[in-house]
Amino acid sequence: MKALLEARGLKLAFGGVKAADGIDLDVMEGEFLAIIGPNGAGKTTFINMTTGYLKPQGGTITYDGAEITGRRPRDIVRRGVARSFQLPQLFSEHTVEENAALAIASREGIWSPFAPLLRPAWRQEARGLLDRFGLLPVAAQRADALNEGTRKLADIAMAVALKPRLLLMDEPTSGVAAAEKMGIVETLVRVLRDARVTAVFVEHDMDVVERFADRVAVWSQGRIAALGPPAQILSDPAVQRDVIGIERPAAGGAHA
Ligand SMILES: Nc1ncnc2c1ncn2[C@@H]1O[C@H](COP(=O)(O)OP(=O)(O)OP(=O)(O)O)[C@@H](O)[C@H]1O
Ligand SMILES: [Mg+2]
Repeated sequence: MKALLEARGLKLAFGGVKAADGIDLDVMEGEFLAIIGPNGAGKTTFINMTTGYLKPQGGTITYDGAEITGRRPRDIVRRGVARSFQLPQLFSEHTVEENAALAIASREGIWSPFAPLLRPAWRQEARGLLDRFGLLPVAAQRADALNEGTRKLADIAMAVALKPRLLLMDEPTSGVAAAEKMGIVETLVRVLRDARVTAVFVEHDMDVVERFADRVAVWSQGRIAALGPPAQILSDPAVQRDVIGIERPAAGGAHA
């Protein structure tokens, strides 16, 4: 297996806060890599640097053999790297189908807010995309009328519309009701595996991590504290104490 993404020595500080303090990571082609770690550890910062939203102050990022450090988001998307956000970025006043058509149009380099909605080929592709995500039943609903789980799935569908080889997802299940969560992740994983997309996802739910990640990277104060298969990482006493103890309080805790 070859590395699709290679991060080397990434550094970025905000004032005195080291959000990235020497990040070295290879993301292997075809894998699902989970990123876990406490609030403020620098997980989103890593995604922002990889997708061009933040420029690292040091280090390099190589994607598919080409250095992309400090390039603009649009250039990075064009190379095949897409992302979803901690908070979904849908056009709230448009329907789900229109959102999908707009995402497809942006992939084709069209930014007009109207033209994409009129082109039958894009509407058709949009409906095919929504079908893969099980979202056809809500295709005609406005994005702001969706429940949180469906909104998250729709937001990821828009990233998949860009036909990425690498998709970075920032907390795809945050805010999603527990009862809905596994179904949503199952759908997501099925679509991504079918499309042979390599995925990096930030996740706070250890059940999701255990079930769907090939490898887990533990973020701590801008560094990677541990990296390995889920069974090994999630049973590591230090990880349990420093991360999982915080993420998933023992039975009887406030969030148990
Ligand atoms: N644009 C910014 N300006 C200033 N400080 C920032 C900025 N982005 C992140 N930080 C700081 O960098 C640190 C890492 O933030 P980051 O958002 O990457 O953490 P995170 O691991 O994603 O946390 P969470 O689990 O809460 O989403 C935090 O201390 C945060 O306050
Ligand atoms: Mg974050």
